[in-house]
Amino acid sequence: MPKLCVNVDHVATVRQARLGLEPDPLTAAQLAILAGARGIIVHLREDRRHIQDKDVFNLKTHLKANLHLEMAATAEMQKIALQVKPHMICLVPEKRQELTTEGGLICKGREQELREFIAPFKEKKILTSLFIDADLEQIKAAQEIGAEFIEVHTGHYADAKNEQEKEQELKKILKAIEYAQKIGLQVNLGHGLDYQNIWAFAKVPGIKEYSIGHSIISRAIYVGISKAVEQMVNIINTFVD
Ligand code: PXP
Repeated sequence: MPKLCVNVDHVATVRQARLGLEPDPLTAAQLAILAGARGIIVHLREDRRHIQDKDVFNLKTHLKANLHLEMAATAEMQKIALQVKPHMICLVPEKRQELTTEGGLICKGREQELREFIAPFKEKKILTSLFIDADLEQIKAAQEIGAEFIEVHTGHYADAKNEQEKEQELKKILKAIEYAQKIGLQVNLGHGLDYQNIWAFAKVPGIKEYSIGHSIISRAIYVGISKAVEQMVNIINTFVD
């Protein structure tokens, strides 16, 4: 079973540059699925800088694959997500000024609030995931909140300035994955993963999904989305289960 879920936000980024119809995230998503991706991810941001509400509904209606919705834990997003009914929601922190999601969601101390926030999704059998840093306290809190999944933030590893920092960040992630799996959480990975740095996870067992956007959409500009997705699927398919 392929483990790649492709984030198509930046197809919408290009479209929004001219506020037109092309390129269309749905077409890109369909091609990504044909090329072997398991699912499609979009992040409906509060400022609607890329994906628009209509994209999310359109994807849900026409895509013959799992749709994952990344969202902030706000009342507005909760209402939209419950209408869309994606396969999975992933709660992320959101700041207006950031270029992309910068850190993981703070779960510790917000257990009750986040448990209540995800309750209606659980009722509708929509899977829930929390995007968190490789921090054991946050992981424990995620388990207490009752999400089925966590997505461990790989961005700090991807952005490390030197080999030593990279090694340290990777160590933290590997420890976090092991701990999360031990306490019964299903683990996805995402943020900043590309065709080179993803190899660090080749021997890590039990990863459910990889959430990858920017590197695939960037490569797609040169080689087309089908090839870009296929190349990433081929890498991940060599990894241990
Ligand atoms: N996972 C989460 C929670 C994200 O916010 C993002 C960026 O939208 C990604 C994964 C994908 O990151 P990238 O575009 O760097 O592959």
